[in-house]
Amino acid sequence: MPRKLFVTTALPYANAGFHIGHMMEYIQADTWVRAQRMRGAEVNFVCADDAHGAPIMIAAEKAGKTPQQFVADIAAGRPQYLNGFHIAFDNWHSTDGPENHRLAQDIYLALRKNELIDVRAIEQFFDPVKGMFLPDRYIKGECPKCGAKDQYGDSCENCGAVYAPTDLKNPYSALSGAAPVRKTSEHYFFRLSDPRCVSFLEQWTQDGKLQPEVGNKIREWFTKNEDGTGGLGDWDISRDAPYFGIEIPDAPGKYFYVWLDAPVGYLASLKNLFDKRGADMEAYLADPAVEQVHFIGKDIVYFHTLFWPAMLHFSGRKVPNNVFVHGFITVNGGEKMSKSRGTGISPLRYLELGLNPEWLRYYIAAKLNARVEDIDFNPDDFVARVNSDLIGKYINIASRAAGFLSKRFGGKLSADLGVEGRVLLDTLRAHRATVEELYEEREFGKAVREIMQLADRVNEYVDQHKPWELAKKEGQDAALHDVCSVCIEAFRVLTIYLKPILPALAAQVETFLKVPPMDFADASRALGHHAIGAYQHLMQRVDAQQMDALFEPPAPVMVVPGGEPIAAEIGIDDFAKVDLRIAKIVNAELVEGSDKLLRLTLDAGEGRTRNVFSGIRSAYKPEDLVGKLTVLVANLAPRKMKFGISEGMVLAASHGDGKAQPGLYLLEPHPGAQPGLRVR
Ligand code: 2FM
Ligand code: ZN
Repeated sequence: MPRKLFVTTALPYANAGFHIGHMMEYIQADTWVRAQRMRGAEVNFVCADDAHGAPIMIAAEKAGKTPQQFVADIAAGRPQYLNGFHIAFDNWHSTDGPENHRLAQDIYLALRKNELIDVRAIEQFFDPVKGMFLPDRYIKGECPKCGAKDQYGDSCENCGAVYAPTDLKNPYSALSGAAPVRKTSEHYFFRLSDPRCVSFLEQWTQDGKLQPEVGNKIREWFTKNEDGTGGLGDWDISRDAPYFGIEIPDAPGKYFYVWLDAPVGYLASLKNLFDKRGADMEAYLADPAVEQVHFIGKDIVYFHTLFWPAMLHFSGRKVPNNVFVHGFITVNGGEKMSKSRGTGISPLRYLELGLNPEWLRYYIAAKLNARVEDIDFNPDDFVARVNSDLIGKYINIASRAAGFLSKRFGGKLSADLGVEGRVLLDTLRAHRATVEELYEEREFGKAVREIMQLADRVNEYVDQHKPWELAKKEGQDAALHDVCSVCIEAFRVLTIYLKPILPALAAQVETFLKVPPMDFADASRALGHHAIGAYQHLMQRVDAQQMDALFEPPAPVMVVPGGEPIAAEIGIDDFAKVDLRIAKIVNAELVEGSDKLLRLTLDAGEGRTRNVFSGIRSAYKPEDLVGKLTVLVANLAPRKMKFGISEGMVLAASHGDGKAQPGLYLLEPHPGAQPGLRVR
């Protein structure tokens, strides 16, 4: 019986395109699914847009669109990413589809019948101008602890204090600017604290299926503190109109909180797929042989391992067989690529620059493991792995052998291969089970290492038998034929092993080898006397300059005659993220070993000084700077440099590249400015 798998990735919010973090998750899940299919599993692999919630409603309003239109426009942009990176979902749907409305309401009604829904009055901030309750992130005010202005309703970015929105001093609505009023309304709760839920979840989360670090984290959530806090609390699942969401049955003006209907969207997308096929989704899910697994990021474990299984179980449905959690991807050791902060590498820019999508698939796979670890995208590492491993070790095997085969032997493979050739191929084939198992365990990095070690052996064989020399010698035709045939056969086996990661390349190889689509089982069979096609170049090397382009700012939108183009437009919110402060240069000195940098000691009114390296040595003598005021980017992530840590950056004007036209001018405020003042 083939294995039956229902696989999902997290449903992305329908308010923006994808960033590299989304692509990492899709590549991980897609690779796993492809490997399962190559082992004979029947897989339904689905996703959808997560359409509901206040942020999307508000973004749609700002864009002058209905939320439905807004979400549809975002959905229209999905295929270019998914096709671009060979992510082969069987279906893409929306949590605003009719299937999800039905399913979410059915699940809710079943929970209510099970006496797991409560109604309670809650007091919250209400925007009297907008006529709506304000989610925490739309309430701003002064931090109750340090007094910093314009802080969000949940925590202070200045001092890090965590509080309730009602603790803010002089609160105001980020939507209208109005002072919010306190208002009471009825909220619906899922009674997660019910002993039935607690004991079900203790069992479901601790039976060993989850990754150990995930299980441990969850155990903390179960733990009750001595003061009565902690432990599973009931979950507020309702929001008041106006809200873009699904109506709660028998509760006029109440909508499900977006996180209630979002995971139901997994089932809705599956239902939509089955309806299109004329098949019965409920019957499929009722089959105990069907395994349901969700790929998610570490930031949404709570929803997927507590709320979601409890919702399913207590509405009489199949519960997930597993939830596979991954970490974040950072770029250049930098900030994390969380879903809300989509900075870093743009997947579309990657494609626009003509970078091969399978380089990224390969690179990400090579870094992934089964743990909840962050991985880092490092451009030098990327170039090295693609060029030395993927091209240098693997692709080159084919390019070294194929020419001789077509020129000298009409493309026909020899079936003899010689003793050493057979031993080599047996070795490669013997690793099939290990490779399959590593894919199964999501140990893709180990799989790649294993496969590259096999490629090393093939290259050793090539170096020993030197086909280029055999080709020049008289009477060595049979030997040349055998060696090249071994290479092609080895290349075919390696291609099978890499196929879950490199599906498009594998398809090219199948055309070149004139074989039908390959599964893992094909690795254990020999091609024998078989005629292959003409070799065409399979994959380019990556050029380090292409990497530079990836990190350059995107194309400008406006050009100033004769000067440097104006950068792409940003909103005031983007600008507000940059915290500029007046800083006093209390000391400046040369940096030994650098002809570009000065080491500045800055006082930005923080009661401490900062160390900042600045590339202004060509324009300033240290002694001329001491005592002067300048402008500091105060919230730039500290950067480790060869000479120490740089805690910010000072602002200076210069020509584009600083080479054609020299000149560097440090910014200095008008007299009267004091260290610590914010520049805005
Ligand atoms: O965190 C997020 O991006 C959510 N949109 C994920 C939802 S996953 C599932 F529950 F729909
Ligand atoms: Zn504060």
